[in-house]
Amino acid sequence: MVNFSLKGKTAIVTGAAQGLCNAIAQAYHDAGAVIVLVDVCDKVKDAAQAMSSEDAPVYYAQGDLTDTENLQNLVNECEEKLGGHIDILLNGAGIQFRCNAEDFPEDRWDSIIRINLSSVFFMAQKVGRKMIKQGYGKIINIASMCSFFGSTMIPAYTASKGGVAQLTKALSNEWACKGVTVNAIAPGYMITKLTENMKEVNPKGYEEITGRIPIGRWGEPGDLDGISVFLASDASAYISGAVIPVDGGYLGK
Ligand SMILES: NC(=O)c1ccc[n+]([C@@H]2O[C@H](COP(=O)([O-])OP(=O)(O)OC[C@H]3O[C@@H](n4cnc5c(N)ncnc54)[C@H](O)[C@@H]3O)[C@@H](O)[C@H]2O)c1
Repeated sequence: MVNFSLKGKTAIVTGAAQGLCNAIAQAYHDAGAVIVLVDVCDKVKDAAQAMSSEDAPVYYAQGDLTDTENLQNLVNECEEKLGGHIDILLNGAGIQFRCNAEDFPEDRWDSIIRINLSSVFFMAQKVGRKMIKQGYGKIINIASMCSFFGSTMIPAYTASKGGVAQLTKALSNEWACKGVTVNAIAPGYMITKLTENMKEVNPKGYEEITGRIPIGRWGEPGDLDGISVFLASDASAYISGAVIPVDGGYLGK
């Protein structure tokens, strides 16, 4: 029988205080996993409380994923809260900044690459070592349609997400044979804090995008639930190194 259940599994979900990864965390919780939400933002505590139920507590660990000196402690804290083992890592924390390439500030470039790309690698490395030891693990990175096309005004974001897609394949090539699959989800245009001002700032662009999405609407956080649970479950046992678009058909047009 196909097994989509996450009962008995444990998961770390980063960037889970809000937005897409908060919804993914909820889906993992609903599918039976014990989860820890990781985020730099204070709201992560309330998010964990809101998700917790009497018989299934949801844990949280507050920390900055770009703080490489403390990253091992953060991973250890998560592992302890999860009862000593980590089955699933969803690397979702990310940031965005829009500016034409010729004026793009160096500090913004650095911070975007550090959170969107470098922290994905170092989290995968630290959790991956533990998964390799136990001979089992599921790593799921959040890429973007900008992993496939270049877009405009977001050069650092595009570079970081192109990197996430390639990193996903590179890690899969080394670790799939050790029981650790590595995949990525590439969301299309989704309505979250990251994109909510697009409608006001650039109404024409917003309408153009909407008109180009075959399904006819922007995605919502819950639209990633199915693929996220699938890639974390044993139903996806033979999938690794894949970068899967969830974009309302946008890339096919
Ligand atoms: N919204 C979209 O249209 C869209 C499309 C494609 C990909 N994505 C990707 O999905 C992921 C989630 O995006 P979202 O739209 O939910 O954004 P969001 O801003 O709502 O959530 C991102 C979360 O990451 C956290 N975070 C940021 N920097 C951090 C750090 N240094 N350490 C720990 N946590 C940190 C934030 O506090 C926030 O809770 C991101 O990787 C984003 O690039 C979003």
